[in-house]
Amino acid sequence: MVQSTEPKTRKLWGRAVAAGNAGLYSSGTMKLFLDTASVEAVKEIAAWGVLDGVTTNPTLVAKEGKNFRKTVLAMCACVPEVSAQVTASDFEGMRKQADEYSGWHEHVVVKVPMTIEGLKTLAYCRQKGIRTNTTLVFSLNQAILAAKAGANIISPFIGRLDDAGQNGMELIAEIMAAWSHYDFDTEVLVASTRHPRHIAEAAQLGAHICTVPVDVFRRLPLHPLTDLGMERFRKDWESVSGS
Ligand code: G3P
Repeated sequence: MVQSTEPKTRKLWGRAVAAGNAGLYSSGTMKLFLDTASVEAVKEIAAWGVLDGVTTNPTLVAKEGKNFRKTVLAMCACVPEVSAQVTASDFEGMRKQADEYSGWHEHVVVKVPMTIEGLKTLAYCRQKGIRTNTTLVFSLNQAILAAKAGANIISPFIGRLDDAGQNGMELIAEIMAAWSHYDFDTEVLVASTRHPRHIAEAAQLGAHICTVPVDVFRRLPLHPLTDLGMERFRKDWESVSGS
């Protein structure tokens, strides 16, 4: 049985809250991460007081075209957890990158792919106290293996399952049901979300974390009836405030 890392997570979260950078009431709720390599986007959403972390991947980093280490460090100043993905595919290469990235900042979580070499890397990292997030999880069996190898977080990609003609959220339901029988301390992060409904459904299933692309995150606070209500309040107030 792997040892709980919850106290460390809570400590990091508490420190970020003290710095005014994390969701003030996020302890004990589903954590919300931003899926991006844009530091500007992280600063924008962190200012809302609801952001608990960031996930990046090589595709997102390539899109921004900025220095990877500097990007990760700038994000670590804003939020308590930043997933930085290894680019090697063999154990030796991933182990070296895990050692390197985890030395950058204590908020770094090393993102490792769900492969056999990745499993070896997860076990190595757990033994060294390096926090990890397992990416590219597409089945319950992969989720179980990653958790048993010592992953702190697993990231099932629900949008890509939807794209392939499956129901991605059913995998989250399967994982949460299995988790309810055991003492895994591995958090389930719903990744590859594509629309606001994915976030609501992840919360209904009790997922620990949901990572959200910037354009979807910006849509989460919006509702047309809120806008209409605001407009009516404004007009009604104007009609009396002028008299
Ligand atoms: O967090 C994983 C995410 O970046 C993958 O999203 O939209 O490329 O499937 P997507």
